[in-house]
Amino acid sequence: MNILILGSGGREHALAWAVKQNPKTDRLIVAPGNAGIAQLAECADIDILSGATVVTFCEENAIDFVIIGPEAPLAAGVADATRAAGILTFGPSAAAARLEASKSFTKDICDACAAPTAAWARFTEAAPARAYIAQKGAPIVVKADGLAAGKGVIVAMTEAEALAAIDDMFGGEFGAAGAEVVIEEFMAGEEASFFILTDGTNALPIGTAQDHKRVGDGDTGPNTGGMGAYSPAPVLTDAIAAQAMAEIVLPTIREMARRGTPYQGVLYAGLMIENGRARLVEYNARFGDPECQVLMMRLGAQALDLLLACAEGRLDQAQVHWAEDHALTVVIAARGYPGAYTKGSVIKGLDALPETSSQMVFHAGTTAKNGAITATGGRVLNVTARGATLAEAQAKAYAMVDAIDWPEGFCRRDIGWRAL
Ligand code: AMP
Ligand code: GLY
Repeated sequence: MNILILGSGGREHALAWAVKQNPKTDRLIVAPGNAGIAQLAECADIDILSGATVVTFCEENAIDFVIIGPEAPLAAGVADATRAAGILTFGPSAAAARLEASKSFTKDICDACAAPTAAWARFTEAAPARAYIAQKGAPIVVKADGLAAGKGVIVAMTEAEALAAIDDMFGGEFGAAGAEVVIEEFMAGEEASFFILTDGTNALPIGTAQDHKRVGDGDTGPNTGGMGAYSPAPVLTDAIAAQAMAEIVLPTIREMARRGTPYQGVLYAGLMIENGRARLVEYNARFGDPECQVLMMRLGAQALDLLLACAEGRLDQAQVHWAEDHALTVVIAARGYPGAYTKGSVIKGLDALPETSSQMVFHAGTTAKNGAITATGGRVLNVTARGATLAEAQAKAYAMVDAIDWPEGFCRRDIGWRAL
C-alpha cells in the first residue's frame, strides 16, 4: 500500500523507519520530512495543516493510508478531512484531539468518568484566579488551557511564581491558548508515559516510556521538549498499568464515545505515580517525541499492522509481540537550546554509523545541503539503541553519540539514570 506520514521530526523518522520495514508498504511519502527521512522515504513539501491540501495530495498520489504525527494537524482537523474523503487515517478527529488541545476539556472528561487526576478549577479572569491561588497556597500548577508548544505549564513552587504566571497568561503571553487558565493541585511522584492505541471502542496498550524534560544532567535547568527517553518505564509496573487502564484510559475512551466524539489513534497518557497508584497529568493525542523513537525501535515492522488495525477498527484482533528488550534514545540538540541557537552547522560522522534493527540515528531537525547534513532545529538528532538490558541500550547509544562529529551540538550524559 501507499502510505503518507505527516510531520518532520524524530517521531516521524522513527514511524517511517518502522513502516518501511513492513512488506505491506509500497510507496512511502513523508510530508514535509527532513534529511534523515529522505534517506528512506520520499519527502513532499506540502502544507500539512490544510486538510484540503492533504486530501488533494493523497488523491494525486494514490495514498491508501495516512498517519498523522504531530498535534497541530490533528487540532486543525486534518484527520476529519481525510476520513471524509474516504482515506484510511491514523489519528483522532479535531473534536477528539481536544484531549490534548484543551486542558479544561480533559479535566471535564476526567470528572465525568471519575478518572483520578489533580483537583482543579478553571478561570477566565485574573482576580478569581489570584484568590484561588491565595486560598490553596503553593506548590500549585498553572496551565494555559490551549496548545502552547509545551511552554504553557508553570509548576509554581511559591505563590509569587503562580501569581506571576497568572499575570503572564491573562497578559496574553500565550495568545488565545491562555485566554482560559486551569489551576491545579501539585502532584508529587514519578512521571511515566503510557501509550494506548484505540479505535474508539477497543484499546491496546503498546508500551511505556519515560523522558527527561530538563535540559541539564541530573534533571536541572529549563524544560525542553524532551532530551532523551527509554522504554519500558520500570516505574509503570503491570499492576499500575492495569489500574491506569481500568480507572483512567478505558473510562476516557467510553466517555469520548458516549459524547459522540470517539477517539481513534494513539492516546498518550502522562501519569504521575505515587504509592503504587497512577493519576492522570495530561493526555496527548499523538506519540511522544522522543518517546516514539524508543517505542518504534522496540516494535519494528509490526507498528504498521497495529496502526492499520487501529484505523480499521479491528484492534480487538490485534496483539503486540514483545521482545524482552529495552530501548533508549539520546537527543543531541543545538548549543543554546531551549533558548536561542544557531542553525546551519554541519554534522559529520553519521555515514559511518551502521543502521540496524537495534541502532538508528533518527533525525529531528536536519536539512541536506550540498551533500552535507546541517542542523536546522533545536533538537536535532535522536541517537537510539536497543539492548537486552537498559544499561546495554544506554552504552550503545552513547557509543554512537561519541562517534558523531558535531561540535555545535550537546546532549545529556545521564539519560536513563532514574531506571538504572
Ligand atoms: P503538561 O504539559 O500538562 O504535561 O505539563 C508539563 C509538565 O508539568 C508535566 O510533564 C509535569 O512534569 C508537570 N505537571 C503538570 N501538571 C502537574 C501537576 N498537577 N503536578 C505536578 N506536576 C505537574
Ligand atoms: N516528550 C514529550 C512530548 O512529546 O510531549
